[in-house]
Amino acid sequence: MNFNSLFRRKNINDILANAASESAHGSLARHLGVKDLTSLGIAAIIGAGIFTTIGQASADGGPAVVFLFLFTALACGFAAFAYAEFASVVPVSGSAYTYSYVAFGELFAWIIGWALIMEYAIGNITVAIGWSGYFTELLTRMNIHLPAWSTIDYISASNGFKEAQQLIADGTVLNKLSHGLQEAYLAWEHAPTVFGFRIIADFPALLITFLITWLVYRGIKESKNASNAMVIIKIAVVLLVIAVGAFYVDTNNWDPFAPNGLGGVLKGVSAVFFAYIGFDAISTTAEECKNPQRDLPRGMMWAIIICTILYILIALVLTGMVHYSELAVNDPLAFVFTKVSDLKWLSGIIAVSAVIAMASVLLVFQIGQPRIWMSMSRDGLLPKRFAKIHPKFNTPSFSTIVTGLIVGGGALFLNMSTVTDLCSIGTLFAFVLVCAGVLRLESMGVERKFKTPYINSQWIAPIGVILAIFLTHRYNYDGFMHFLTSTPAPGSDMSSMSVFLHNIPMWIFVIITLTLTGLCIVKKYSLIPVLGLVSCLYMMSQIELKNWVGFMVWLAIGLALYFSYGYKNSKLAKQSADS
Ligand code: ALA
Repeated sequence: MNFNSLFRRKNINDILANAASESAHGSLARHLGVKDLTSLGIAAIIGAGIFTTIGQASADGGPAVVFLFLFTALACGFAAFAYAEFASVVPVSGSAYTYSYVAFGELFAWIIGWALIMEYAIGNITVAIGWSGYFTELLTRMNIHLPAWSTIDYISASNGFKEAQQLIADGTVLNKLSHGLQEAYLAWEHAPTVFGFRIIADFPALLITFLITWLVYRGIKESKNASNAMVIIKIAVVLLVIAVGAFYVDTNNWDPFAPNGLGGVLKGVSAVFFAYIGFDAISTTAEECKNPQRDLPRGMMWAIIICTILYILIALVLTGMVHYSELAVNDPLAFVFTKVSDLKWLSGIIAVSAVIAMASVLLVFQIGQPRIWMSMSRDGLLPKRFAKIHPKFNTPSFSTIVTGLIVGGGALFLNMSTVTDLCSIGTLFAFVLVCAGVLRLESMGVERKFKTPYINSQWIAPIGVILAIFLTHRYNYDGFMHFLTSTPAPGSDMSSMSVFLHNIPMWIFVIITLTLTGLCIVKKYSLIPVLGLVSCLYMMSQIELKNWVGFMVWLAIGLALYFSYGYKNSKLAKQSADS
């Protein structure tokens, strides 16, 4: 194996020619304009995050969680500039995968493609499980009760059963246990068995995944129409929540604004970031856009701006209507309205719209995943059939079916908390590389139709770093010293070694940021991609070490696949052998 060949890069003109010549397999249909793209972006963004995971984030951070929404929006906005810039250079379906192929070469492209599988497939498993939770709850409101073993995953049931058994042995009665533990207990107790094995799985999650996959398989036009309809409904309901909720805000609930300080706010990083994931998915539809170079950047930016405004207003309403400490629930939007006696009806409407909102996220991610596989297959990194286009429906048919099987299978058995953080870390990693890729494009002197406004980072970057160090030293002196010296905080039972291990992601952030600052001084990099890279890396550093380990294992599996298949079958490898 030749080391340099790992970094063989694709030529932009070849990519464009290659995408055009794929008509041998049939071509994708161009139906999307800027409004459709904005709508697809909103469809992908507003979902499980705002309807479920931000409850806990608001409880941890208090009303100040709005700052986290703002910070995350800025980080995503910076990354969106980078996506937009790349999309204007290579308007093909592979998104960040293809962009990295141009900027960094094949190995990085494969790694990003593999991380994007984590974003879309694992993300969709999370959303399907969240969808199932709301759907089951909705059926219960209508007095339809599905057996507990058919709506929960095996691991949650097994763990919950053990915990419930212990509590019951200690004297707690079953109906005094939390709703989740009761469900787990009943699922385990009443599950049918086959050859001694309990049948426990999340069947509604499987069902919705298959329905959405079928829609995506049928055509981009059908998917677009369904998505547009779902977006109208979910925006209407979100606006209703804000408009009605605003009348019930008690400003006393906003005091104190940051009850648990910066630490409390930062606990919500993964959940809040998850709520923003999705705007990038629209770049995978580049070959189905009427004018991708003009419309993709606009679609992404509008989607982020609209969602940020809605999210901040929702966070203010939620934390204004009830005390932040009550918000640690899985259905925060519906929950706050159950607190107001004459508004209970609204909580039912919110539950219905949550089901619709999450289905639309599933739809867009289910569109995105197969198109990335299609691009990887076109490049020879995956078997040819992944690029096959359906002759009648003009969609990547084989890849779409495989995506449905993977997401459906995962959603049946996996546990929600395991997948949410993995999805966030995989996506942040992709954003970091895309921002770095834009810096590289600059130095390659590539012609771009959309260019991020240039602001020279030469002095702003070092001044920013000095300011950040000064502020941390001034306002979080103890934390600063514990980090630098790896000493445990007073009262903590961690050893110095575990403190050091726990801080590894933060050390990675510090080292990369300092190196990048040095490069900014020398190379006068454009500030916006630098800020995108640093802010996304910072969010990664706030995700627990165990998820970093999970992510590394995932990357190691990906690398094993690359070296056993992709490296040898890559089109670039064949081209260089022929020449
Ligand atoms: N942003 C998407 C959601 O919150 C992934 O469901």
